[in-house]
Amino acid sequence: MHRIKSLSDYFKKYEQSKKDPDKFWSEIANNFIWKEKWDKVLDWDFESADTKWFKNAKLNITENIFERNLKDRGDKTAIIWEPNDPAQSPIYITYRQLYEETCKFSNALKEKGINKGDRVIIYMPMVPEAAIAMLACARVGAVHSVVFAGFSSTSLADRINDCQAKIVLTSDGNFRGNKIIPVKPVVDEALEKCSTIESVIVLERTKQNINMIEGRDYWWHDCVNDISSQCDSEILDAEDMLFILYTSGSTGKPKGVVHSSAGYMVYSSYSFLNVFQYDEGDIYWCTADVGWITGHSYIVYGPLLCGATSIMFEGVPTFPNVSRFWDIVDKYKVNQFYTAPTAIRALQAHGLEPLKDNSLESLKVIGSVGEPINEEAWHWYHDNIGKGNCPLVDTWWQTETGGIMISALAGITPNKPAHASLPLPGIQPVIVDSAGKELTGNNVQGNLCIKFPWPSILRTTYGDHKRCINTYFSNFKGMYFTGDGVKRDHDGYLRILGRVDDVINVSGHRMGTAEVENAINEHEEVIESAVVGYPHDIKGEGIYAYVIVNSKTSDDKIKIEITNVVRRVIGPIAKPDKIQIVSGLPKTRSGKIMRRILRKVASNDFDNLGDTSTLLNPEIVNEIIKGSSN
Ligand code: WTA
Repeated sequence: MHRIKSLSDYFKKYEQSKKDPDKFWSEIANNFIWKEKWDKVLDWDFESADTKWFKNAKLNITENIFERNLKDRGDKTAIIWEPNDPAQSPIYITYRQLYEETCKFSNALKEKGINKGDRVIIYMPMVPEAAIAMLACARVGAVHSVVFAGFSSTSLADRINDCQAKIVLTSDGNFRGNKIIPVKPVVDEALEKCSTIESVIVLERTKQNINMIEGRDYWWHDCVNDISSQCDSEILDAEDMLFILYTSGSTGKPKGVVHSSAGYMVYSSYSFLNVFQYDEGDIYWCTADVGWITGHSYIVYGPLLCGATSIMFEGVPTFPNVSRFWDIVDKYKVNQFYTAPTAIRALQAHGLEPLKDNSLESLKVIGSVGEPINEEAWHWYHDNIGKGNCPLVDTWWQTETGGIMISALAGITPNKPAHASLPLPGIQPVIVDSAGKELTGNNVQGNLCIKFPWPSILRTTYGDHKRCINTYFSNFKGMYFTGDGVKRDHDGYLRILGRVDDVINVSGHRMGTAEVENAINEHEEVIESAVVGYPHDIKGEGIYAYVIVNSKTSDDKIKIEITNVVRRVIGPIAKPDKIQIVSGLPKTRSGKIMRRILRKVASNDFDNLGDTSTLLNPEIVNEIIKGSSN
């Protein structure tokens, strides 16, 4: 199809994509089924954040997953589902079965009054029905918004209200390791704050006792019982919304990143095939959760568009023991394995013992995503999992980019530890200094921007286009700003340095410091708080909260209460790792918190605090250092 086969081919395609992007992308797009072809490949204006790809083309992404693949791959396994408990049987779903299940659920959605353009919240564990739900939405032209099932009821309610969703798809509960996590009760609590939801469809997974509300809540199995397994797809415009996915930024509440049908389809498939060099018959496994963009693009859409076999894993890497990932690799003879550095570091901490009974010889490609991979973890992963002979693709991208932007192509472009390396053909990254000047040549470092559109660039932030312009297109004129710092080394390879804004990356999860502060501030005795990231051996970054309280309660007790407030408001993933109660925060004369100082203290870097004399309250710095929780 559209696969790059050698280093010289890579350079050739890269040049072509720059010289004639229309030709480059239309050749790739020609591999898909279109109801009507486009009359223009690309229209764009970064100033107004307005990008249109494959203008006026008509399609449905699920026809490109099913109708396009069924003839040759009807009996091929599309999804292998590995349950949380290894004693339970896995499920193999062929393309034909997945098609039929998707059609059935599409009909169920229609019966519940879901039409083109309606927003559907998916709040589900890692079960095949989560993928079926996404595909069914796409089939009927509804817009899915998957919410990670670890988010709190407040976070769920915020997302439902922001996109004015009509229906929630969920489960009774969720198995994670040796825990059973309630899911439906969280939905019930969220819905007390939502007025747009008309119905809830509940998958039976854990068989816990739950409350079903007559006329609102329906069991999944009842909805698909006795329903047709045929459903014509809704024909969509290229630019019709495919999904919304909420992600954290440096200010305010999470934004609903909007992706459109055609561009996302073309790019998720193109990037999957090229980065992983997927061959027919390979078994591919991405360990992400469908609640994140990685799960969207590289468990569901990218692999299924390419007719691949994609593993979906319900559980966690440490259950029943820390060999679980490697046991799954051997069990299914996984060829491409894609995970996050935080998982690698956590497993690395257990040494080589958990690997002693695993062969891992099926692996051809290993991948990393979500945060910078430090050199030590890179080498451990490369040497012990890849056995020194699998290319390690360090893939840099974002919810907003829809697909992998900078990465080695497995076995084709060179591997360099801790370097995402080179952009995919079609992607034009630039490094700019704080004044917006492009830094060319090697050995330069600055802000990572992209100066030309690619098909799966976000189209808007749902319901607030101005916010999209302000966040991504106004820091540096005429460019998309990623929020990341980057270095181009002496060989010309790119190394991502991490966020340059107030976003922290905790175990590969994006978190706005302001969001965590807002949650902490909900505790009635908290006067003010400031949250920063600090280096954490396993998580990459940990959450360090400085809090001023007005209370006689003991520090230990109030710290526990603050932690609980954050769990309740956002979810356990946002829990501070360290909380320091302080009597003040270092502020500039204009009243702004000097986070630079707080970051240094949190990182134990007391000698490089810089100039503190301009502070309104320089004396507070010593108090903070003395009381620091390190
Ligand atoms: C970070 C995840 C270094 C980066 C796909 C980015 C990375 C944010 C890498 C997006 C990588 C992702 N190396 N940093 N290979 N991949 N990041 O939206 O800071 O959850 O801006 O998308 O993760 O996180 P998001």
